[in-house]
Amino acid sequence: MSNNLLKGKRGVIFGALDNKSIAWKVAEKCHEEGASIVLTNAPVAMRFGHINTLAEKIGAEIIPADATNLDELENLFSGAQEIMGGKLDFVLHSIGMSVNVRKKKPYNDLNYDWMMKSLDVSAISFHKVMQTLWKLDAINDWGSILALTYMAAQRTFPEYSEMAEAKSMLESFARSFGYHFGREKKVRVNTISQSPTPTTAGSGVKGFSEFFSFADKMSPLGNATADECADYCVMMFSDFTKKVTMQNLFHDGGFSNMGLSHAVLDSFEK
Ligand SMILES: NC(=O)c1ccc[n+]([C@@H]2O[C@H](COP(=O)([O-])OP(=O)(O)OC[C@H]3O[C@@H](n4cnc5c(N)ncnc54)[C@H](O)[C@@H]3O)[C@@H](O)[C@H]2O)c1
Repeated sequence: MSNNLLKGKRGVIFGALDNKSIAWKVAEKCHEEGASIVLTNAPVAMRFGHINTLAEKIGAEIIPADATNLDELENLFSGAQEIMGGKLDFVLHSIGMSVNVRKKKPYNDLNYDWMMKSLDVSAISFHKVMQTLWKLDAINDWGSILALTYMAAQRTFPEYSEMAEAKSMLESFARSFGYHFGREKKVRVNTISQSPTPTTAGSGVKGFSEFFSFADKMSPLGNATADECADYCVMMFSDFTKKVTMQNLFHDGGFSNMGLSHAVLDSFEK
């Protein structure tokens, strides 16, 4: 059901790889709500992902860009404005990748070159996206910039490894750049801290399915799905959230404020 919440708005969405990706669902919902969208992903993801299927479904163009590469970001945002005929109203950063996790390096034996790469892709790219938007003056007043994050930025989850540090940095960039964007351009910047979600990036974390079940049992409302995350993103891109900025917004069924639930307690009963 559409309420035309994003009618006339133009957005760029990073990170739709396949139909499990959170960004995929966000793109579908934004389209349903009346937005024009340009999709983007790393050139390498074009080869093994299914972004073309999504683009066809929602009538969007794709401009490939490695989010760590400033020239490619400039080309993306200039091209997106040309294609959609004006400045942008919203941008979703839905990007995460840890080389050390991928290569199964334990946290006390990390490879630092790989760590640099993980931080660049998963966190510094967010600053690069915002700095490019800023320099090109590519986003309209009262625009909305969002990135997706996870609660390992605040609490320890052993198998999340260096991604915890990446997410802390990502959330900090939202606050720091949110100040500048708010003051000078009337643009809001926030992160949404999402429940564990079965996607390519999510399932790459060791013990994901057990952890998914634990989080679900711990949360009074249960884990938030990718579709529900997409609904939240639509709200954050809409004109109903104009003064929400520099926030890390938990979208996790209540998990982040729980100590112990009956469901988890019951699972320990002898
Ligand atoms: N899945 C979860 O459990 C979960 C929970 C909380 C937050 N998140 C966050 O949600 C976001 C989206 O992840 P997802 O779960 O939908 O998984 P996903 O694997 O579908 O998406 C990750 C995306 O990052 C893209 N990417 C990687 N390197 C890139 C680069 N250099 N330039 C541009 N794009 C690049 C990938 O191609 C992919 O599309 C990530 O930030 C992730 O950390 C996921």
